[in-house]
Amino acid sequence: MNSKKVRQTFIDFFIKKGHKEVASSSLVPINDSTLLFTNAGMIQFKDIFLGSEKTNLSRATSSQKCIRAGGKHNDLENVGYTLRHHTFFEMLGNFSFGDYFKEEAIEFAWELLTKEYKIPEEKLWVTVHINDKESERIWLEKIGISKDRISRLDEDNFWSMGDTGPCGPCSEIFYDHGSDFEGVPPEEGQESGDRYIEIYNLVFMQFERNQDGKMKDLPKPSVDTGMGLERITALLQGTNDNYKTDLFAPLIKNIAKKIGTNDLTDPSLRVIADHLRSSCFLLADGVSIGNEGRSYVLRRIIRRALRHAYKINPEADSILSQLANGLIADLKDTFPELSKQSEIIKSSLEEEERQFIITLRQGMKILEDELLNLSGDEISGDLAFMLYDTYGFPLDMTLDLAREKSLSVDLKQYETLMEDQRFRAKKYSGFDSLIPSSINIQKSSNFIGYEEVSSESSILGIFQNGEEVENAQEGNFVFIFDKTPFYAESGGQVGDIGSLRSAQGSGDILDTKKIGDHFLHVIEVTKGFFSNQDKVFLEIDTEQKKENYF
Ligand code: ALA
Repeated sequence: MNSKKVRQTFIDFFIKKGHKEVASSSLVPINDSTLLFTNAGMIQFKDIFLGSEKTNLSRATSSQKCIRAGGKHNDLENVGYTLRHHTFFEMLGNFSFGDYFKEEAIEFAWELLTKEYKIPEEKLWVTVHINDKESERIWLEKIGISKDRISRLDEDNFWSMGDTGPCGPCSEIFYDHGSDFEGVPPEEGQESGDRYIEIYNLVFMQFERNQDGKMKDLPKPSVDTGMGLERITALLQGTNDNYKTDLFAPLIKNIAKKIGTNDLTDPSLRVIADHLRSSCFLLADGVSIGNEGRSYVLRRIIRRALRHAYKINPEADSILSQLANGLIADLKDTFPELSKQSEIIKSSLEEEERQFIITLRQGMKILEDELLNLSGDEISGDLAFMLYDTYGFPLDMTLDLAREKSLSVDLKQYETLMEDQRFRAKKYSGFDSLIPSSINIQKSSNFIGYEEVSSESSILGIFQNGEEVENAQEGNFVFIFDKTPFYAESGGQVGDIGSLRSAQGSGDILDTKKIGDHFLHVIEVTKGFFSNQDKVFLEIDTEQKKENYF
């Protein structure tokens, strides 16, 4: 059965059972700041479940576009490592809004799987919540499933939309792909391997979880279900590898051809195929590429795909923007938004590829060279930081590569270095507006920094926002002294930093610059005040100086 038929069979079955077909909503949840992306079929019905939206709808069915690449439900790191995880997928679902509950939900699911999709009953296993005796009884008595094919789980059988919102116990249906694959029947907290795969989740929505973690009853017990189109299609096409279905195989073939490999089993092809799909759908739904929130997740997805393309072929160029054409052509009938937004999709991908490719190549080259000499199995935080700080090579890339090679990254050291850098950036930000464009002071500064790291000096001039002033109180200023040990920024070497104090005040010297013969000290007055002609004691932060030189 091809994927289109799988989707249609699901929808038609539930229409026949009195459900109304509802179109997929956008990947960007509307009016819901608690959520990064639409991550399940129930998202567009959240307010109906909560009772805050009144509707005549009592039963609905949909095939919902979902992204799981951030927040509570995040599969980004799994893509490439398993045959069945995706950042973008379609969730088939049937919903009851205070209408039917456990019994019909279970009966519908069983009928769909065994009669419509004709899955042999003996291949199916189920799970119920440990306290949900009612569901267990329905499975045993109404469906007639044997007791030894029911697992009773705790947290694994409680589904929540996010940290807050509707939630409830659930009953999941698993398919046994047979003894050719490794894996065990569902157990609490265990990944069940490649043999027993969850295909259908029936959630009995009963509660709303609030910000403080407390749960209250929903106005009406309801049903929310989800079945991954990619997984059920794989099963019906006789494989447990979603990437071998008609949803992915042609795409994987195209990608392989474009990048220049014949090995269709290369896991990097799976990553590129998955990430290309999510990027195109996110761009079609109006997410732009950037550095915040959703935009940043999109950027990470695109960059991760590019790294995997590089891995297969370091010369591969602009592959995503070129591959987008084929993807859009294949899916435009089901998802017209793709062709509507095709220009934006292609140009955004192209721009990101163009911007990132040099960084990627440079960073990968350095990282690969360093790894040749690595002793032990940890990449230092220094290296990860240097790659980021000097070359703009994101930590994500380093982590992804490390995981592939079974290495770890010293994240603690990386974070310490990042913290220092953030601190410096904060202190140094916005100095340019403080610097005067011309200076009317006749006497030039006497530089004594080759011999001294501190000095007793006099203030010759004080500037605020570029204008000369007589006094400085708390805030940022530029000071010029008659003599100074502070080296000014020049020739790629950064200016010295340190401190100053007088009888009336104290402050930090955040940077030193030079205009003509004058040494300009960017000062933050932290206490008291300074006046023109004051005597001050200046002292360089020698630790910082050492860092700059070596
Ligand atoms: N909302 C449920 C899930 O995502 C069905 O698994």
